[in-house]
Amino acid sequence: MTEITIRRPDDWHLHLRDGAMLEGVIADTSRHFARAIIMPNLVPPVVTTTDAKAYRDRILAALPAGDRFEPLMTLYLTEGTDPDDVEEGHRSGLIKAVKLYPAGATTNSHGGVRNFENAMPVLERMARIGLPLCVHGEVTTPEVDIFDREAVFIETVLDPLRARLPELKVTMEHVTTKEGIDYIQASKANLAGSITTHHLIINRNAILVGGIKPHYYCLPVAKRELHRLALRAAATSGDVRFFLGTDSAPHVDPLKECGCGCAGIYTSINTMSCLAHVFEQEGALDRLEAFTALNGPAWYGLPVNAETITLRRSIDAVKFPDKIETGAGPVTVFDPMFPLHWDVV
Ligand code: DOR
Ligand code: ZN
Repeated sequence: MTEITIRRPDDWHLHLRDGAMLEGVIADTSRHFARAIIMPNLVPPVVTTTDAKAYRDRILAALPAGDRFEPLMTLYLTEGTDPDDVEEGHRSGLIKAVKLYPAGATTNSHGGVRNFENAMPVLERMARIGLPLCVHGEVTTPEVDIFDREAVFIETVLDPLRARLPELKVTMEHVTTKEGIDYIQASKANLAGSITTHHLIINRNAILVGGIKPHYYCLPVAKRELHRLALRAAATSGDVRFFLGTDSAPHVDPLKECGCGCAGIYTSINTMSCLAHVFEQEGALDRLEAFTALNGPAWYGLPVNAETITLRRSIDAVKFPDKIETGAGPVTVFDPMFPLHWDVV
């Protein structure tokens, strides 16, 4: 196959940031994607419906003229989040999910949840009104090895929470382990998982072999090869519980290439090319549409996009820039370490 037409895709987990960075990156998403779930971990975070409304307006103002793109807004869950505000935001159509960051888990997560008891009133309300909880699924306990943090989160936080609130719809975001895949596949209802582009392509060797490679560092950190293979099998299986969430997370190069580099990989610009490559390798190009354009809307209760995009395979490799220039500074683009031949036409 050298050409494939699919419904226009959506990105169910995206960091657009704000200000000059937002202006520098948004076109790389709106070029291909119709909608994206927008992460709320700004400084300060998007915690109220009023914050989300203002952020949505800034995103729409930064969109290139002529691009049709719908930001799907989320709220950053804190121990002080007001259930009434969440319900109002959801009923107005603005708020599509609430994001749980365990405090200290990742970029700008210090305002997240420490004591889950304090978040129960909001979670109970969300379960009642059918508003999904997007979860950064890692414990932050210092004793737990960073490569085990997802599996331990499932066992000690997520499973007890789901047992207590079985009606709560939970999106396990950026699943990175076989344990995560198995857990989602074993669930009966109200659980789905997003998978990033980069976790389908790299394992932890990319970060650590031959010198430390900060541009492959993200959270949850890439794991062993067996986990990458489990993610690929799930993503390309057609299972409706798995869909794309790129977690494209731009940081300017000086904040990645330093003594304490930020977590995040920038993939918005070449995600569709990378995914076509992966799905072709797995003999599953016919399932690319399910992963990128059908399963996500079904989970979030939204219509699939009416428009389509076409991807074409060329003999010559497609050239992407090594970095993009933004008003905030340069951002290195994800290098899959193999030539890309697919591109959106
Ligand atoms: O790699 C990551 N970058 N993981 C996250 O959870 C947050 C994100 C960011 O905001 O930079
Ligand atoms: Zn993220």
